[in-house]
Amino acid sequence: MFKPHYHFFPITGWMNDPNGLIHWKGKYHMFYQYNPKKPRWGNICWGHAVSDDLVHWRHLPVALYPKDETHGVFSGSAVEKDGKMVLVYTYFRDPEHNEGEKEVQCIATSEDGWNFVEYENNPVISKPPEEGIHAFRDPKVNRIGNKWRMVLGSGKDKRIGMVLLYTSEDLVHWDYEGVLFEDESTKEIECPDLVSIGGKDVLIYSVTSTNSVLFALGKLKEGKLSVEKKGLLDHGTDFYAAQTFYGTDRVIVIGWLQNWHRTDLYPTEKEGWNGVMSLPRELYVEDGELKVKPIEELKTLRTGKILEKESSGTYRINTNKNCYEVCCSFQGNLSLALQSELGEVIKLFVEKDTLVVDTTRSGISKGVTKEVKVQRRETDKVRLFIDACSVEMFFNDSVALSFRVHPEGIYNMLDIESYLLKVDIYALKNVWIS
Ligand code: FRU
Repeated sequence: MFKPHYHFFPITGWMNDPNGLIHWKGKYHMFYQYNPKKPRWGNICWGHAVSDDLVHWRHLPVALYPKDETHGVFSGSAVEKDGKMVLVYTYFRDPEHNEGEKEVQCIATSEDGWNFVEYENNPVISKPPEEGIHAFRDPKVNRIGNKWRMVLGSGKDKRIGMVLLYTSEDLVHWDYEGVLFEDESTKEIECPDLVSIGGKDVLIYSVTSTNSVLFALGKLKEGKLSVEKKGLLDHGTDFYAAQTFYGTDRVIVIGWLQNWHRTDLYPTEKEGWNGVMSLPRELYVEDGELKVKPIEELKTLRTGKILEKESSGTYRINTNKNCYEVCCSFQGNLSLALQSELGEVIKLFVEKDTLVVDTTRSGISKGVTKEVKVQRRETDKVRLFIDACSVEMFFNDSVALSFRVHPEGIYNMLDIESYLLKVDIYALKNVWIS
């Protein structure tokens, strides 16, 4: 009932972070934290999928397995070197059952994008650079000039989140360059990613304190990020561990459409699966601001228009499932509600410079009310992507809000009020059966 129609998810088992996102030999590869054995975290492997267009994905065999259930192949990234795909990841040893370092960094290579061989002299980074570091994981590697640059998620003294910087000439020997960034609002930083967008250096990172993805935009100077602006990459409840693709000419990001603190509220475990990826988004910088919009390719999901209106009112959406896209252009205030016949509702309001989303009565999983300050234009635009267990919202191709929602009914009633309004609703296809 909650299986997504056009989002990536594991057919069975558990999935968390996206890993090793890479455009390699003309195809997009996505790996992910995966437990094939049950819909709960544990026994963490690297699941693998491939796509030609970021919309249709094909599941491939598991790429990396841990030694046993007391180990895990944790998050990391992928790059291309000498025509080969190289995966860089954290190997985890549960300290309750194992000796040695809890988290070390390793590599594996592939010539065909299908079979992966672990490097015989793993690990390539065998211990944290200083005392007091309690988290040391999630390497994200990029090529900068004639060097490889790695950022690692970390935390010190159980008190402060950090991002550590390493460089290498061959992906095997790594030099520690120091602390790139610190955040005192969290004990740990997970899944950092440092990319260059529109002439700025942008650090994307996940914080365990609020289970959200933040960004810090600025300039890298002598191994430190001098921050000009900070903010949330997504303002909803369910977006975590985001990573950008290596090897694309746009900056494309995918996040885990879930949240560790809210996972127990989701009912999908009963269906034998757990975990959804967000839709791919493009990041760009405009007027000094970091902005996010759905990738253009998502328009190919549209199979036809199910509603087109140029006036306010209450409309019945002709759909037999939660699988469609709503696009509205408007001026002034907007009030929009998507309702099911069981009284489940998702509300969205825009008034002056404030956008509010209310998912408190959206269905089984308890929702929230979220508020975000937005920059208005003469005519504003909202786009909502509704799927069986999620809604992702985009305002003016700038701001994103992602929510897991689990309605028992179908949101087939649209109640909308605004001035100068155009509403288009598109049916979207089920990519898993077409
Ligand atoms: C983030 C995270 C990573 C870790 C992985 C383990 O969600 O906790 O820091 O590598 O998940 O599955």
